[in-house]
Amino acid sequence: MFEDGDDDEDDDGFRGIMAILPIRLLGDPVLRKKAQAVNKVGAEEKALLRDMIETMIAAEGIGLAANQVGVLKRIIVFRQGEQVRGLINPRIIKRSSEQEVNPEGCLSIPNVQGDVKRHAQIVVSGRNKEGKTVQYSCEGRVAHCVQHEIDHLDGKLFIDRVVPDTLCWVVHETNKETGEEETKFIPTTVEQVEATFARRREKAYVPQPSETT
Ligand code: NI
Repeated sequence: MFEDGDDDEDDDGFRGIMAILPIRLLGDPVLRKKAQAVNKVGAEEKALLRDMIETMIAAEGIGLAANQVGVLKRIIVFRQGEQVRGLINPRIIKRSSEQEVNPEGCLSIPNVQGDVKRHAQIVVSGRNKEGKTVQYSCEGRVAHCVQHEIDHLDGKLFIDRVVPDTLCWVVHETNKETGEEETKFIPTTVEQVEATFARRREKAYVPQPSETT
């Protein structure tokens, strides 16, 4: 069934040094690879789960998959109400025939949003950080999020499933007249988004000229 961890060591799972991991952006090949099943929930997996939770919270995200931090292991984290859940080897064991459309974004494709149609209700099963088998019923945005994160583990991104003509850049601006923060939605295409992130990546790889020479 499950391995009972060493209680003293296990604690609440949040002891020790946590780390915010860099999030991989669209165009990074790791986002297009299939993550591998985790056979044993060891210290490394527990630490990764903890770091992924911290990374998601720091980025103000609602979900994160291991591919997004460059690790090809089937591990996801997500928010459900006040709870932050972590699942190892997540698997959808029930799905409603009813589907619904919700806007989605992704920490690996910042400032981009688009509608995606997914199962309205699901039950997801997997192992938690203690290696114990758990299952969660999810609906609405949370169900969307879990399906989105499991897609990541299979190398799929929400832009692959986006409802045509709903993809847009989300731009936050200050209105010069009123001084108020405004959010603008500028229509775009998958091709434009991919090209923009490709340019961003190229720039990031240019070595910075030394300031002292
Ligand atoms: Ni995502």
